[in-house]
Amino acid sequence: MKGIILHGGHGTRLRPLTHTGPKQLLPIANKPMSQYGVEVLKESGIKEIAIIVGGIGSNKVREYYGDGEKFGVKFTYIEQDYPKGISHAIGLCKEFIQNEKFVVFLGDNIIQRSIKDYVAYFQNSNFDALLLLCEVDNPSRFGIADVKNEKILKIIEKPKNPPTNLAVTGIYFLTPLIFDIIEKLKPSWRNELEITDALDILREKNDKITYRMITDYWKDTGTPEDILNANSAILEKVIPYFDGKKEENVRLNGNVIVGKNTIIKDDVVINGPAIIGDDCIIEKKSIIGPNVSIGDNSVVSQCSIKNSIVMSDCEVKCNISIKDSIISKNSVIQTNQNNNEKIFMLGEGTKVYL
Ligand code: DAU
Repeated sequence: MKGIILHGGHGTRLRPLTHTGPKQLLPIANKPMSQYGVEVLKESGIKEIAIIVGGIGSNKVREYYGDGEKFGVKFTYIEQDYPKGISHAIGLCKEFIQNEKFVVFLGDNIIQRSIKDYVAYFQNSNFDALLLLCEVDNPSRFGIADVKNEKILKIIEKPKNPPTNLAVTGIYFLTPLIFDIIEKLKPSWRNELEITDALDILREKNDKITYRMITDYWKDTGTPEDILNANSAILEKVIPYFDGKKEENVRLNGNVIVGKNTIIKDDVVINGPAIIGDDCIIEKKSIIGPNVSIGDNSVVSQCSIKNSIVMSDCEVKCNISIKDSIISKNSVIQTNQNNNEKIFMLGEGTKVYL
C-alpha cells in the first residue's frame, strides 16, 4: 500500500503563525505536526509516500523532508497550484498510486495509535473505503457520518444540523476507484472538491465503505487551542531524558526532556511534562511547565511559562508569567514588568518589548 500526506492549504485559521510557512510544519513537542503522520504510515509498513505541497512555504516542506531517507521512507512531491479541496489533492496522485490501495493522512491530524491493524484489514478486504470515525463535541466543524446498525447511511461535510457526533477523521483508506469519482465531482458551497462528497458518492455507488471507531486520542489541529491541546497530549507520553547541564538547586518534576548542550541554571524549576530542545539556556529562577515545549537554541530568562510552545531561536527575557501561548521562531519578548500574566500568539521574527 502507498500513502499520501496532505501538506497544502492556506492555514488561514492559524494566522499569524502560518504567515511564513505551512501549518503542518508547526512543531508539537518539538517535531512538525505532519511528522507524526509520516511516522504512523511508516510504522504500518507504508514506505512510498506522496506529499501534496502548495502555497506558502512548500519549499520548506521539501527542505525538511527531503527524499525521505532520513525518515526511512521514500517521498514524492506533488504540487497543488491552489487548495481546491482534499479530493482535488487526492486526484493529483492518480499516477503515483497506479493500481494500489492507499492511505491518505491529512497533515494536520494527530493520532496516538498504530494503524497497522487497519492497514492489514483493509489490504485483505473487499472494501473501497475504510473511514476512522471519532466522537466530537462540535460536529458542525467536521465531516460527519450518519451511522445506523454499524452501517454508514450518509456522509456530510460540516452539517448545520449534524445527525450524529461522529467525525470522519482525516485518515482515509481508499482504492483507486475514488479517482473515477473525483474526476466527476462538483465543487461544494465552499468551492472545494470535498472528500466527504466523494465518499458519499462511493457509498451510493457500491456501498463498499466501512468504518472503525477511534476511541483514543485524535485531533484536527485547526486552532491554536487545538495545537496546545495536542502538545500536552503528546508530552504526556514522552520518555524523559536529560542530555544537558544542570547548575545548583535545579528541580525537575515529572516527565522532562532536556536536549544536548542545554544549560539549566541555578534555582530553575521544570514541571513536566515538558521538552526543552538542544543548545538552550534556561536562566536562573525560571519556572517552566507543565505542558511546555521549547525549541532548539532558545533562551528563557526569569519568567514562568506554562501550557505553551516556544519555537527555536527565541529569546524570552522577562519577569512575567506566560501561559497558553505560541511563540514562533526567532521571536523576542523583553520586559522589566513584574507579576503580569500574558498570552502571546506570535508569528516568526516578532519582537515584543513591554
Ligand atoms: O480533520 C478532519 C476533517 O478534515 C474532516 O472531518 C473533514 O471532512 C475534511 O473536509 C477536513 O476538514 P477541514 O476543513 O479541517 O480541512 P482543511 O481545509 O483544514 O484541510 C485539511 C488538511 O488538508 C490540511 O492539512 C490542509 C490540507 N489541504 C486542504 C485543502 C483544502 C490540502 O493539502 N489541499 C487542499 O486543497
